[in-house]
Amino acid sequence: MKIAVAGASGGVGKIVTNALRRSRHQVRGIDRNSSAEETAHEWVTADLTEHDQTLEALKGVDVIVNLAGLNGPIPLPEWEAHNTNVVISYNVLSAAAKLGIHRVVQASSVNAIGLAWSRSPSFDYFPVDLQHRSRTEDGYSLSKLIQELQADSVTRRHDGLSVISLRLHAVLNHAAQAQIALERLGPSWAINGLFGYCTEESVVDAIERACSASVIGHEVLWVVEPETLVDEDSRTLAARFYPDVPFVAPMSGRASFFDTSRTREILGWTPSTEDAPPTDLITL
Ligand SMILES: NC(=O)c1ccc[n+]([C@@H]2O[C@H](COP(=O)([O-])OP(=O)(O)OC[C@H]3O[C@@H](n4cnc5c(N)ncnc54)[C@H](O)[C@@H]3O)[C@@H](O)[C@H]2O)c1
Repeated sequence: MKIAVAGASGGVGKIVTNALRRSRHQVRGIDRNSSAEETAHEWVTADLTEHDQTLEALKGVDVIVNLAGLNGPIPLPEWEAHNTNVVISYNVLSAAAKLGIHRVVQASSVNAIGLAWSRSPSFDYFPVDLQHRSRTEDGYSLSKLIQELQADSVTRRHDGLSVISLRLHAVLNHAAQAQIALERLGPSWAINGLFGYCTEESVVDAIERACSASVIGHEVLWVVEPETLVDEDSRTLAARFYPDVPFVAPMSGRASFFDTSRTREILGWTPSTEDAPPTDLITL
């Protein structure tokens, strides 16, 4: 398959580009910053907030993996993350429709429901599933929700295009990175984020599978590891930090607060820590 990776110079983009190459796909890297040019078979330097550059950059590919944009609301002004992300995602989706490309895989975020960047996120029930309502407060999280709405709209109009939005959690290359994040951002990083994360391996696997999965229209899927990163039982964590939130499904041990059953069903995805949970857990 010929796959365009938009945002190929970014943290996730570089890993995904390398992995798709190893899987023998033809990869075209696209980014406004050409620092990872050597990782892809082909390279296009383009500003994806510009519609015509986006259209030109995507000509001739079978699938687009869109990882381009600004990956959080700080230290930027919030409008910048919002405006950049919603313009890039609509340009990519509308270019895909115009060029007859049949699949877009786009990086959404768990923050599409209002989580890590909210002052005090609130939840209706645990584990959180795809029906859980969104209460975004900041420009970045709102951009992720809008990106998903854009995919609903574009796939409604264009039958030949299907989109998978992957709601990634904090992408870590080893569990010890959680301790670094905790020291830098404080405990609210873990508490607001419902104690979750995902590994680079799990992200790569979900993206590779999403490039060819059998999907019609638009699917939103969580990408979160099956256990939290905290050395405490999840029910105890919930009682400490979210005492009023009811449980709607059983959760035992360090079970994740996110229901990823649909990701497994649609993609056949198995998180990388399923059989080898990390030993470097954080304490809150
Ligand atoms: N890294 C995480 O923990 C995480 C978690 C959840 C969701 N995500 C999402 O995954 C995606 C990738 O995240 P990342 O951490 O790799 O981000 P990153 O900032 O490392 O990479 C983003 C890339 O997009 C490029 N880009 C930005 N604006 C552009 C433009 N106008 N035109 C062309 N290229 C542009 C940047 O140059 C950069 O290379 C983002 O959509 C992010 O919101 C990331």
